[in-house]
Amino acid sequence: MKGYLSLGLATSLVASAASAQSASRASVSLSVAAATVTTSASAVPPLFPGETVQLTDDALAKAATALNNETLSRMFAFGASNTTIVNGTRDHSCKIMPGDAAWPAASTWNIFDQLLGRSLIKPVPLAAYCYPDWSEYDADKCSEITSDWLDASLHFEDPTSIMLPLYEGRSCMATGYNYTSTCTQGAYPTYVVNMSTVAQVQLAVNFARNQNLRLVVKNTGHDFNGKPSGKGALSIWTHWLKDKAFYPVFKADNGYSGPAMKLGTGIQAWEAYEFAKVSNVTVIGGEGATVGVAGGYTFGGGHSPLSSMYGMAADQVLAMEVVLADGRFITATSKQNSDIFWMLRGGGGSTIGVVTSLTIKAYPKLPTTTVTFNWTISDTPNAEAFWASFRSYLDNFEAFVDAGAYGYYYLGASSLEMGTTYAGDTDYYFRMESFVAPNMTIPETKKLLKPWFDALDNLNVSYTPWYNHADNFHDVWKVAFPLEGGGSDVVKTASRLLPRKKDAIEKGLFIAGFHISGTGIAVEPPTDNAVLPAWRDALAHVIVGSEWNFTSSWETVHNSSLFVTNWMDALREISPGSGAYMSEADLLEPNLQEAFYGVNYPRLYELKQKYDPTGLFFALTAVGAEDWEVQVTDPLPYSWNNNGRLCPKSS
Ligand SMILES: Cc1cc2nc3c(=O)[nH]c(=O)nc-3n(C[C@H](O)[C@H](O)[C@H](O)COP(=O)(O)OP(=O)(O)OC[C@H]3O[C@@H](n4cnc5c(N)ncnc54)[C@H](O)[C@@H]3O)c2cc1C
Ligand SMILES: *[C@@H]1O[C@H](CO)[C@@H](O)[C@H](O)[C@H]1NC(C)=O
Ligand SMILES: *[C@@H]1O[C@H](CO)[C@@H](O)[C@H](O)[C@H]1NC(C)=O
Ligand SMILES: *[C@@H]1O[C@H](CO)[C@@H](O)[C@H](O)[C@H]1NC(C)=O
Ligand SMILES: *[C@@H]1O[C@H](CO)[C@@H](O)[C@H](O)[C@H]1NC(C)=O
Ligand SMILES: *[C@@H]1O[C@H](CO)[C@@H](O)[C@H](O)[C@H]1NC(C)=O
Ligand SMILES: *[C@@H]1O[C@H](CO)[C@@H](O)[C@H](O)[C@H]1NC(C)=O
Ligand SMILES: *[C@@H]1O[C@H](CO)[C@@H](O)[C@H](O)[C@H]1NC(C)=O
Ligand SMILES: *[C@@H]1O[C@H](CO)[C@@H](O)[C@H](O)[C@H]1NC(C)=O
Ligand SMILES: *[C@@H]1O[C@H](CO)[C@@H](O)[C@H](O)[C@H]1NC(C)=O
Ligand SMILES: *[C@@H]1O[C@H](CO)[C@@H](O)[C@H](O)[C@H]1NC(C)=O
Ligand SMILES: *[C@@H]1O[C@H](CO)[C@@H](O)[C@H](O)[C@H]1NC(C)=O
Repeated sequence: MKGYLSLGLATSLVASAASAQSASRASVSLSVAAATVTTSASAVPPLFPGETVQLTDDALAKAATALNNETLSRMFAFGASNTTIVNGTRDHSCKIMPGDAAWPAASTWNIFDQLLGRSLIKPVPLAAYCYPDWSEYDADKCSEITSDWLDASLHFEDPTSIMLPLYEGRSCMATGYNYTSTCTQGAYPTYVVNMSTVAQVQLAVNFARNQNLRLVVKNTGHDFNGKPSGKGALSIWTHWLKDKAFYPVFKADNGYSGPAMKLGTGIQAWEAYEFAKVSNVTVIGGEGATVGVAGGYTFGGGHSPLSSMYGMAADQVLAMEVVLADGRFITATSKQNSDIFWMLRGGGGSTIGVVTSLTIKAYPKLPTTTVTFNWTISDTPNAEAFWASFRSYLDNFEAFVDAGAYGYYYLGASSLEMGTTYAGDTDYYFRMESFVAPNMTIPETKKLLKPWFDALDNLNVSYTPWYNHADNFHDVWKVAFPLEGGGSDVVKTASRLLPRKKDAIEKGLFIAGFHISGTGIAVEPPTDNAVLPAWRDALAHVIVGSEWNFTSSWETVHNSSLFVTNWMDALREISPGSGAYMSEADLLEPNLQEAFYGVNYPRLYELKQKYDPTGLFFALTAVGAEDWEVQVTDPLPYSWNNNGRLCPKSS
């Protein structure tokens, strides 16, 4: 029995699904290949190899025969279809955790692993190397990860590590970053499926739903609120879905006809930009090199150095492949499953399913100029001139975004990059990380900047702009946006989108942010997606942060974070009815649903109930999260991080 399972079942499961699918998809592939030369509608590109390996009813029936145990085989069964469940939320109960009687036995996890083709990982925290009471203890490896701790790649290459460990409970920090002398699993998941096929996602979704396990999805782990962590969870790790394909002429269901790119959900910005460069096109991604393109970034809206030109990342999506909460694999476009297509373009990650790939628009190669410069208070005559220099920037926001430009700046009072709130510190600095002028030459960019630079000159600010131009976006992006780190637990941020209304920016309260518009000047934004409407009228996205240090107590962390939440009232007051960018926001945001989702929220919530009636998917701040609470075990209020059992909200 055991030998048969390990050698036979997984193979037969995968093979039967693969052959069934490749047979049924063969004609689709052919018609897509032909689409570039004929007018035949082919709104969906061919599936990637891993997407053709699917769990079918037939494969499940074969598995059931092999298992010969109905209790076991039911654990992997598909869920009821979306039409047969009503009032699903009423059935919510606390998620099962390790140690509970209902937690699956080791033998069951082993069977799950065999069905997955051995892609189940039992993860340990990265920094366990540093703690003598862990069997992983290894002083050399500890010093290696300690020196790399603030390097993002250390964390996105790990099955469970995240960029902001504050939200998993900073339970196992590397030496020098620790505030205790202990290492625990915290909210790092208990098991991880290192997925490479749709069948594995389907098995994981079915297994978690049927057993009432907490389920999380981790792509790169960049989320500002640590959404891909969860205590006691089963995690689906999408990092290795690295397939990509370019279609010079693609006809989409929404009428778009032009170049397009299909990206596996594990593709990161640098990979998408490099692929776009060799394909002689431009695609929309974030500024950060290692952030995913086809994951939480796009689902949450996604802002880009090219947004003032081409709009939000979610606006670019033409088709998506998704495993829904019932375990079924579907395609969503503006014509097929259009409600799902609407929801996942702006409604956030981890809501109703796991996306395996996105097909996005591509644009012609775009000559681009970037400009980088900075000054500190000592480069200005006095504090008054320093603040006037910043106001002169604000005076030009509208002209900049109306020209399709974007700017990413820091304004603070210390050497740390993020804005700080240290009372009394007057060592002010302004840094334009990158002013991006798409489709402009250096002389054109200078002309655009002239009114601002004239004002700086009149204020006697000394600064030396560095201009950088290339005939394609990739090459300027690569030098103008240095690699950003991860792994720190000493900052708490909040976000606000500021609209075009002048009075909203004249108070000069910004600390760090962007001049950016979510309505590109070169395109019409789609009206059928769930992007927060405040983006369409935005002139600025502001991120405010406060900091503490690695040894700070939870009480200090808690106090400082409340300070940010409250300080943000200043920006909320001058931008009534606007909102906050969910992917870079504060999980304590007041009226969070309205701030993150705007008028779209009621429909998003309804779709959440329709497609995920049992509440399989959960992430702090995600659609429907208000029905749940994380019973945090750190000395913090509930739902302040992911380090606790997930239960329906008690009142
Ligand atoms: C250094 C840095 C730079 C950034 N730059 C930008 C920027 O320029 N523009 C911008 O808009 N944002 C930016 N962000 C924010 C970024 O958009 C969010 O961190 C986003 O959540 C990252 O998505 P991810 O899939 O890479 O990461 P993850 O943290 O792994 O995932 C984020 C959320 O999406 C869910 N998710 C991921 N993949 C899937 C999937 N396939 N199916 C279902 N759910 C999924 C996860 O469960 C999680 O809830 C930046 C963040 C950092 C830390
Ligand atoms: C079937 O599997 C369940 C779960 O592992 C186990 O408890 C039960 O004993 C098995 N039944 C038989 C008949 O083996
Ligand atoms: C959900 O149910 C509707 C019928 O109400 C059906 O048309 C649709 O295909 C179903 N969607 C999924 C993803 O199962
Ligand atoms: C669903 O909820 C509504 C409103 O609360 C109630 O009237 C209805 O009877 C419920 N239906 C079922 C099947 O429980
Ligand atoms: C954590 O910090 C303490 C003191 O701050 C130190 O003594 C201890 O060795 C550290 N532990 C680890 C594993 O780094
Ligand atoms: C995850 O799977 C990929 C292949 O898809 C493999 O290269 C990688 O080593 C695996 N990682 C772990 C930690 O098992
Ligand atoms: C991109 O342009 C170069 C130079 O014109 C050309 O050699 C190459 O084939 C093009 N690549 C694609 C994918 O069109
Ligand atoms: C870029 O500029 C050229 C002329 O300078 C213009 O023809 C083209 O439409 C512009 N492209 C975009 C995307 O605005
Ligand atoms: C700038 O410097 C000039 C010449 O030194 C001086 O006349 C002028 O008053 C200064 N302006 C400001 C705003 O400091
Ligand atoms: C700030 O600008 C000066 C030139 O004015 C430059 O020499 C310096 O490298 C810049 N600093 C950073 C951190 O880019
Ligand atoms: C860290 O912050 C605490 C207050 O939270 C303070 O007492 C301590 O001196 C700080 N340590 C360092 C190294 O700055
Ligand atoms: C946190 O704030 C509370 C209430 O204002 C205060 O009593 C306490 O001293 C603060 N603790 C720290 C460590 O700052």
